[in-house]
Amino acid sequence: MKSLVAYYSRSNITEKLAEEIAGKTNADIEEIVPKVNYQGKLGYVRGGKDAMSEKVIDLEELKYNPGDYDVVYLGTPVWAGKASTPLYSYIKQNADKFKNVKFFVTAGGKGFDSTLEQMERITQKPQSTLTLTTKEVKKNEYTLEGFVD
Ligand SMILES: Cc1cc2nc3c(=O)[nH]c(=O)nc-3n(C[C@H](O)[C@H](O)[C@H](O)COP(=O)(O)O)c2cc1C
Repeated sequence: MKSLVAYYSRSNITEKLAEEIAGKTNADIEEIVPKVNYQGKLGYVRGGKDAMSEKVIDLEELKYNPGDYDVVYLGTPVWAGKASTPLYSYIKQNADKFKNVKFFVTAGGKGFDSTLEQMERITQKPQSTLTLTTKEVKKNEYTLEGFVD
Protein backbone atom coordinates (compact mmCIF):
# COMPACT_ATOMS: atom_id res chain seq x y z
CA MET A 1 0.00 0.00 0.00
CA LYS A 2 1.33 3.39 -1.02
CA SER A 3 1.02 6.11 1.63
CA LEU A 4 1.68 9.83 1.74
CA VAL A 5 1.97 11.97 4.86
CA ALA A 6 1.07 15.61 4.10
CA TYR A 7 1.33 18.01 7.01
CA TYR A 8 1.79 21.59 8.12
CA SER A 9 3.52 22.45 11.37
CA ARG A 10 4.37 25.93 12.65
CA SER A 11 6.32 24.89 15.73
CA ASN A 12 7.31 21.27 15.02
CA ILE A 13 4.74 19.47 17.20
CA THR A 14 2.65 18.07 14.33
CA GLU A 15 5.91 17.54 12.43
CA LYS A 16 7.15 15.11 15.06
CA LEU A 17 4.08 12.93 14.50
CA ALA A 18 4.34 13.29 10.72
CA GLU A 19 7.89 11.93 10.75
CA GLU A 20 7.00 9.02 13.00
CA ILE A 21 3.95 8.08 10.93
CA ALA A 22 5.99 8.25 7.73
CA GLY A 23 8.68 6.09 9.31
CA LYS A 24 6.20 3.44 10.44
CA THR A 25 4.27 3.30 7.15
CA ASN A 26 7.18 3.78 4.76
CA ALA A 27 5.32 6.79 3.39
CA ASP A 28 6.49 9.70 1.29
CA ILE A 29 6.33 12.93 3.24
CA GLU A 30 5.09 16.30 2.02
CA GLU A 31 5.72 19.31 4.22
CA ILE A 32 3.17 21.94 3.23
CA VAL A 33 4.95 25.29 2.99
CA PRO A 34 2.79 28.43 2.86
CA LYS A 35 3.75 31.48 0.81
CA VAL A 36 2.37 33.53 3.72
CA ASN A 37 4.58 34.05 6.78
CA TYR A 38 2.92 32.68 9.93
CA GLN A 39 5.97 32.92 12.17
CA GLY A 40 6.33 35.32 15.09
CA LYS A 41 3.66 37.28 16.94
CA LEU A 42 2.27 38.90 13.83
CA GLY A 43 2.11 35.49 12.17
CA TYR A 44 0.16 34.10 15.12
CA VAL A 45 -2.46 36.83 14.81
CA ARG A 46 -2.61 36.43 11.03
CA GLY A 47 -2.95 32.66 11.44
CA GLY A 48 -5.89 32.99 13.80
CA LYS A 49 -7.64 35.43 11.47
CA ASP A 50 -6.98 33.42 8.29
CA ALA A 51 -8.10 30.14 9.88
CA MET A 52 -11.28 31.67 11.24
CA SER A 53 -12.23 33.08 7.84
CA GLU A 54 -11.25 29.80 6.09
CA LYS A 55 -8.89 31.69 3.82
CA VAL A 56 -7.21 29.75 1.00
CA ILE A 57 -3.61 30.83 0.40
CA ASP A 58 -0.87 30.01 -2.10
CA LEU A 59 1.51 27.19 -1.19
CA GLU A 60 5.01 26.42 -2.36
CA GLU A 61 5.15 23.80 -5.11
CA LEU A 62 4.26 20.28 -4.00
CA LYS A 63 6.66 17.35 -4.39
CA TYR A 64 4.00 14.63 -4.58
CA ASN A 65 0.58 14.14 -6.18
CA PRO A 66 -1.86 12.92 -3.50
CA GLY A 67 -3.82 11.14 -6.26
CA ASP A 68 -0.94 8.66 -6.61
CA TYR A 69 -1.47 7.23 -3.10
CA ASP A 70 -3.83 4.63 -1.58
CA VAL A 71 -3.98 6.63 1.63
CA VAL A 72 -3.01 10.19 2.54
CA TYR A 73 -2.34 11.06 6.18
CA LEU A 74 -3.28 14.73 6.72
CA GLY A 75 -1.71 16.49 9.71
CA THR A 76 -2.35 19.92 11.16
CA PRO A 77 -2.37 21.99 14.33
CA VAL A 78 -5.70 23.49 15.42
CA TRP A 79 -5.90 27.21 14.70
CA ALA A 80 -8.87 29.00 16.26
CA GLY A 81 -10.92 25.80 16.31
CA LYS A 82 -10.15 25.00 12.66
CA ALA A 83 -7.44 23.38 10.58
CA SER A 84 -4.39 25.60 10.06
CA THR A 85 -4.66 27.74 6.93
CA PRO A 86 -1.83 25.94 5.05
CA LEU A 87 -3.38 22.47 5.58
CA TYR A 88 -6.84 23.84 4.84
CA SER A 89 -5.56 25.33 1.58
CA TYR A 90 -3.92 22.02 0.67
CA ILE A 91 -7.10 19.99 1.13
CA LYS A 92 -9.22 22.58 -0.69
CA GLN A 93 -6.81 22.56 -3.63
CA ASN A 94 -6.58 18.75 -3.79
CA ALA A 95 -10.03 17.67 -2.61
CA ASP A 96 -10.82 15.61 -5.70
CA LYS A 97 -7.55 13.63 -5.56
CA PHE A 98 -7.73 11.73 -2.25
CA LYS A 99 -8.59 8.01 -2.39
CA ASN A 100 -8.52 7.45 1.39
CA VAL A 101 -7.59 9.82 4.20
CA LYS A 102 -6.57 9.71 7.85
CA PHE A 103 -6.32 12.82 10.04
CA PHE A 104 -3.85 13.66 12.79
CA VAL A 105 -4.41 16.87 14.72
CA THR A 106 -2.58 18.57 17.59
CA ALA A 107 -3.77 21.44 19.80
CA GLY A 108 -3.22 23.07 23.14
CA GLY A 109 -6.45 21.39 24.20
CA LYS A 110 -9.50 22.85 22.42
CA GLY A 111 -11.08 22.62 19.00
CA PHE A 112 -10.38 19.05 17.94
CA ASP A 113 -13.95 18.16 16.97
CA SER A 114 -14.61 21.28 14.93
CA THR A 115 -11.29 20.80 13.12
CA LEU A 116 -11.98 17.16 12.28
CA GLU A 117 -15.47 18.09 11.06
CA GLN A 118 -14.09 20.83 8.84
CA MET A 119 -11.49 18.49 7.32
CA GLU A 120 -14.08 15.76 6.72
CA ARG A 121 -16.41 18.26 5.04
CA ILE A 122 -13.72 19.16 2.48
CA THR A 123 -12.30 15.68 1.88
CA GLN A 124 -14.24 12.58 3.01
CA LYS A 125 -14.82 10.43 6.06
CA PRO A 126 -11.36 9.48 7.40
CA GLN A 127 -10.39 5.83 7.94
CA SER A 128 -9.02 6.84 11.34
CA THR A 129 -8.14 9.93 13.35
CA LEU A 130 -5.57 10.83 15.98
CA THR A 131 -5.94 13.88 18.24
CA LEU A 132 -3.19 14.81 20.69
CA THR A 133 -2.39 17.79 22.86
CA THR A 134 0.90 19.61 22.48
CA LYS A 135 1.86 18.33 25.91
CA GLU A 136 1.14 14.69 25.05
CA VAL A 137 3.32 14.95 21.95
CA LYS A 138 6.15 16.64 23.83
CA LYS A 139 6.08 14.08 26.64
CA ASN A 140 5.70 11.10 24.28
CA GLU A 141 2.40 10.20 25.93
CA TYR A 142 0.77 8.56 22.91
CA THR A 143 0.78 5.55 20.65
CA LEU A 144 0.26 5.33 16.90
CA GLU A 145 -1.22 1.85 17.26
CA GLY A 146 -4.68 1.65 15.77
CA PHE A 147 -4.07 4.84 13.79
CA VAL A 148 -1.51 3.60 11.33
CA ASP A 149 -2.30 0.12 9.99
C1 LIG B 1 -2.78 30.89 15.19
C2 LIG B 1 -2.91 29.79 16.23
C3 LIG B 1 -4.16 29.46 16.73
C4 LIG B 1 -4.30 28.42 17.66
N1 LIG B 1 -5.56 28.08 18.08
C5 LIG B 1 -5.72 27.05 18.97
C6 LIG B 1 -7.03 26.62 19.39
O1 LIG B 1 -8.08 27.11 18.92
N2 LIG B 1 -7.11 25.63 20.31
C7 LIG B 1 -6.00 25.03 20.85
O2 LIG B 1 -6.15 24.15 21.70
N3 LIG B 1 -4.74 25.39 20.45
C8 LIG B 1 -4.58 26.37 19.52
N4 LIG B 1 -3.31 26.73 19.09
C9 LIG B 1 -2.15 25.95 19.59
C10 LIG B 1 -1.66 24.88 18.58
O3 LIG B 1 -2.75 24.16 18.01
C11 LIG B 1 -0.76 23.85 19.26
O4 LIG B 1 0.27 24.49 19.95
C12 LIG B 1 -0.19 22.85 18.24
O5 LIG B 1 0.23 21.65 18.89
C13 LIG B 1 1.01 23.42 17.49
O6 LIG B 1 1.40 22.49 16.50
P1 LIG B 1 2.62 22.79 15.49
O7 LIG B 1 3.85 22.91 16.32
O8 LIG B 1 2.65 21.57 14.63
O9 LIG B 1 2.32 24.04 14.74
C14 LIG B 1 -3.15 27.74 18.15
C15 LIG B 1 -1.89 28.11 17.64
C16 LIG B 1 -1.75 29.10 16.70
C17 LIG B 1 -0.39 29.43 16.13
